[in-house]
Amino acid sequence: MDSFEFNKIAGGVLATLMMTMLLGIFSGMVFGPHIPAKPGYELPSAPAQETATNAPEAPAEPLPVLLAKADPAKGQALAKACGACHNFEKGAGPKVGPPLYGVVGRKVASMDGFSYSDALKAKGGTWTMDEINKFITNPKADVAGTKMGFAGEQSPEKRADIIDYLHTLSDNPVPMPKP
Ligand code: HEC
Repeated sequence: MDSFEFNKIAGGVLATLMMTMLLGIFSGMVFGPHIPAKPGYELPSAPAQETATNAPEAPAEPLPVLLAKADPAKGQALAKACGACHNFEKGAGPKVGPPLYGVVGRKVASMDGFSYSDALKAKGGTWTMDEINKFITNPKADVAGTKMGFAGEQSPEKRADIIDYLHTLSDNPVPMPKP
């Protein structure tokens, strides 16, 4: 084989190598490794989980819906916490707080013989189930300056049970709200 023929073969080999290289680069551009934004395995469920934990809590059900499911017997048991300061029996007088017989539908701060805070006297209106619900969620946040020293009941279901029980403490209970 003379040098000319060798050059031809060498040229051919080189050209093939070049083509292979170019193909490699080109396919690397098209099918290159996908680098995840965060190191680690990419699990398809990961982003969904993230949104689930970061999502705001589902809004609480409206009070009338909760009241429809409430249980006054459970409420009576839960109201033992209120009983430290309140009487529930008909005709009973005040303790640390005013008596609660007939409180649903009663005018706010209206029991004779109990010395209400100026804050509660200034609130006005009547104790609807909705107003009681707001008050016992966080008394000091609802009526700034109230002297009701109760931290609040955080569970909407438990509050509904308590209100359902308070609703029974009446000679003439107000109608239940329709869900
Ligand atoms: C640590 C004592 C204490 C506890 C516990 C307590 N209360 Fe009271 N509550 C009071 C006082 C004191 C007042 C009067 C507040 C004022 O004048 O600012 C009051 C006022 C009220 C009033 C307004 C009554 C009116 O005549 O205007 C309602 C309704 C009420 N409480 C419901 C409840 C319920 C329901 C619970 C239990 C979930 C409860 N309270 C637990 C001390 C308490």
